[in-house]
Amino acid sequence: MTDTLPNLRHEAAGCTRCELYRAATQTVFGEGPVPAQLALVGEQPGDHEDRSGHPFVGPSGELLDRALEAAGIDRTQVYITNAVKHFKWTPRGKRRIHQTPNQTEIQACRPWLDAELEAAAPRLVGLLGAVAAKAVLGQDFRVTRSRGQVVTASAGVWSGPAVATVHPSSILRTTDAAAREQGFKAFVADLEVMAGLLP
Ligand code: URA
Repeated sequence: MTDTLPNLRHEAAGCTRCELYRAATQTVFGEGPVPAQLALVGEQPGDHEDRSGHPFVGPSGELLDRALEAAGIDRTQVYITNAVKHFKWTPRGKRRIHQTPNQTEIQACRPWLDAELEAAAPRLVGLLGAVAAKAVLGQDFRVTRSRGQVVTASAGVWSGPAVATVHPSSILRTTDAAAREQGFKAFVADLEVMAGLLP
């Protein structure tokens, strides 16, 4: 595996390390400045990202943009990627419904995440949702228990400071308006913890 991001992106475009490439439109690789102060890791591309080839450009990305702005973080300064780089979905009528990736798929994708975090060399990694948090901090990590806390990842993909929070899609799925607003504020508060660790 070569180690510059353009090379990594090129190699990942042909990735067949697990079966997800078969149903996905394309590999959605990470994007952002290198080196980056902050790297954000999500779960996997969604429908919009699969079609466009860019991470966090659909509804979750729009919510993430609003929250980053509220937390005073400039998205153009953030390297944004996903733990899994192909969209995993199942058909329901004409719609493509998100499926959570399994451990085999997450592990198969791990060398890409390892390599891009090494290349992006962030000061801090922000983990969006349980899949990303467990991929980087281990299976025992619980977002509900430890969100918004600065933890030090010591094994595997990333060995440095990390802060986990919820996935923006969990806020979008909240039907009660007041609870959704509260969820958004809590999400911004976690991003503010990240912002506080940046220069
Ligand atoms: N959800 C993610 O986790 N990543 C994306 O890129 C889009 C939606």
